[in-house]
Parts: sequence; structure tokens; C-alpha cells
Amino acid sequence: MLRYLLVLLLSQAVLGSIPSKYLRDDLTDIEDEILEGLDDYDEEAEREKQEIVDERVRKIYDKVRSNGYPMEVHSVETQDGYILGVHRIPYSPSNGPAANKPVVFLQHGLLCSSNDWVILGPGKGIAYLLSDLGYDVWMGNARGNSFSKNHKKLNPKKGDFWEFSWHEIGYYDLPAMIDYVLAKTGQSSLNYVGHSQGTTSFFIMTSLRPEYNSKIRAMHALAPVAFMSNMPNPFFSALSPFVQKENILKKLIGSFEFLPSSKMFSLAGQTLCTDQSIVQGVCSSILFLIAGFDQENMNATLLPEILDVTPAGASINQLIHYAQSYTSGKFRQYDWGVTKNLIKYTSLSPPDYPLNKITAPVNLYYANNDWLAAVKDVQILASKLPNLVYNKMVPFHKFNHLDFLWAINVYELVYADLIANIQKYT
Ligand SMILES: *[C@@H]1O[C@H](CO)[C@@H](O)[C@H](O)[C@H]1NC(C)=O
Repeated sequence: MLRYLLVLLLSQAVLGSIPSKYLRDDLTDIEDEILEGLDDYDEEAEREKQEIVDERVRKIYDKVRSNGYPMEVHSVETQDGYILGVHRIPYSPSNGPAANKPVVFLQHGLLCSSNDWVILGPGKGIAYLLSDLGYDVWMGNARGNSFSKNHKKLNPKKGDFWEFSWHEIGYYDLPAMIDYVLAKTGQSSLNYVGHSQGTTSFFIMTSLRPEYNSKIRAMHALAPVAFMSNMPNPFFSALSPFVQKENILKKLIGSFEFLPSSKMFSLAGQTLCTDQSIVQGVCSSILFLIAGFDQENMNATLLPEILDVTPAGASINQLIHYAQSYTSGKFRQYDWGVTKNLIKYTSLSPPDYPLNKITAPVNLYYANNDWLAAVKDVQILASKLPNLVYNKMVPFHKFNHLDFLWAINVYELVYADLIANIQKYT
């Protein structure tokens, strides 16, 4: 119940209905209660989550095939035992099978999945567009999302499974998926398209495991997230007072899965969604609370489909790691607190990611109204990338974080240039 309360309070702070100072006092009051111990493992909610997962795997497969495209589902095991679902559209109805098709690898953002790239449908979604142009399209899924909730030994119903942030996604998941794709296709390198956390994790892979740079023809970063101190996001500012109180956060959200159940949605929805503010049903989605919502560019017809598959699940540590970036102003590894930092990193604070090791060509695409990738922060990133080849601010002032996936005019504003840049590196 307290977990629901936290989300409720955060949500209200996001929507500005209560000032965040009040929020802070409120949470201080319940700290003691939280620390006394809280067992809110909810078996019914867990069963509900598993059913959602199974149905989603079937749905994306059916959806792509019903559009006339072939679809393959692959399993990739990481070095640390996670089993990831990787999806492939090997060719298109208008551009049939052929040997040695160039590969594009698409990697989704926080709380999202491979669904991101196909929701707009044929002729619009970037996976279909690239397939029609003759690319072999692969779509990754990070550990913990609907398609990657498996491990050789760990059980996703237990806390151990969720002991990761986007650090591990960059360090283990991306290398495993990229090696698998290159081995399957016989290619030596590929074009990489990432959105949001799909860019964060890329910068981790190519800085900490620089041998992967030669496997990347070019990186295309949509809404790139690395530095975050200028982020105007009320969700993370509300969370940030708690990032140093690890024990409270752990008790409160259990270092566990961050996938609000429908029960939480409806509880939040009752108090949050006023008719005037934003479309009802949308404001109760944690995804839109985190990323912002742009009514003007959003095709409302797609909302039921989007909300059906998103949020796709994540570890609470992924959110905490972003909140840490916001507080510290640094792009660095997870802050475990002084004691554990000393053991893990042999220093009091976590090490920065060495961006100077990223030699792959990087294209950046960012927007003015992005709650997660603020223009100033993207400029800091741009100034530190050794091989920045393209830098585009989307020429529409209301364009936001999720518009890179689903905006009505995303082709004109982003994909036309994205495709031209991919072709340049093919
Ligand atoms: C909105 O989405 C629906 C369903 O995919 C589609 O038929 C319609 O053309 C879209 N509208 C716009 C303006 O893109």
C-alpha cells in the first residue's frame, strides 16, 4: 500500500497539484513506518503481470505478421545469465529475402520494448520503413522488460533478479545481442538506433568495452540521455531527495520490478486525471508521467495500443540511477553509497563513464520539449563525444521524448534524416 502511496504522491507532484516541499514532509512522516518493515508482496498482482507478459509476446508476433511482414523471435543469453527476447524482421513484402542485407539494430528506451518501433504500423514505423528499404531489422529488448524476463537461475518474482540498472544493460545486454546478431547474419558491423535509455546503454557499452566500437557503423541517438542535471522532469526531482537514503528506497520499492499493476493505475487515476489537464487514461500511465505528453503531436487513436504494451517493466534501480544522474550532474556508474562503493569501485564515489573511448560515429537527434533529454544536457554530451558526426535539434518546439516514436509528423521531422544518415553509413 505504501508503494502505491509513493507513486500517488509522486504523480501529484508531477502534475503540480501539490508542492514538492509538502511531498517531502509527507514522506518523512512515513519513513519510520516503512523502516519497520513492509511486506506488500502481492501474489495476485504478480500473476497478473505474468499473464500480461505472455500475452504481449503473442501480440507483437501476430501484429507484425498480420501486416504481411515475417517476424522471428530469438533468445540471447548474456554473460551474467539473463535471457533476452530479440525480435527480427528479416525482409519486407516489397523487398524480399536476399543474402547479406545490411543490419540495423533498434534499442528501446526506459519502460519500453521492441513494440516501440512497430506501433505506428507499415509505411510509418521505423522498423517497417527500414525493412522496405532492404535492411535486416533487429530489435533488442533489455533485461526485465516484457520480452526479457528470464534468467538461467534467478527468478523474476524475486528481488535478486532485479538487482540491475541501465549499467548492466549497456555492459552485458547490448554486447550479447550485437554479437548474436552479427554471428547470425554473418555481418561484421551494423547501424545502431537507440531511443532514450537505448542511447544511455550504448554509451556505456562503447566507453567501457571499446572493442565494440568497430562493430558499429554508426550510432543514431534519438533523445540521447547521459547527463541529466538540466532535466525539467518533475518525476525525477520528486524522487531525488531519496536517492541517498538507499535503505528507505529499498524498503519502499524493494529494488524490485517497477511495473505498476492495473490496481495502482486505477488508484492513481481516481485522484489524478482531471478532464481538462490531459487525456484521461493517459495521465494514469506512469510512462507519460515520466516522459511527458504532447497532445498536439500524438495520434490519440494509437493510445490504447501504446498503453496496452507500455510500461513494459523495468527495475526500480534504473529509475534511481537516472535520479542519481539528475542529482550529481555526472554520467557515472550506480552510486551504492560510500561503503559499497569502496568495495565495488575502490573509491567513495562511482567512476565516470569514459566517453573519450567512444570512437564509433555518433548522430544526435534531440528536441526542445523533452522532459528527459534536455537540450543543455545533450549539448554537454555532444561536447564530450570524440566522433560526433551529426547534431540535429528537431525543428518543432513542442516535440517531446516520446514523439521520437509515435508523433504524427515524426517522418518529416526525424525519420527522413535518420534514414538518410543510416544510408550514409551502409
Ligand atoms: C492515427 O492512427 C490510426 C491508426 O493507426 C491511423 O489510421 C491514422 O491515419 C492516424 N492518423 C494520423 C493523423 O496519422
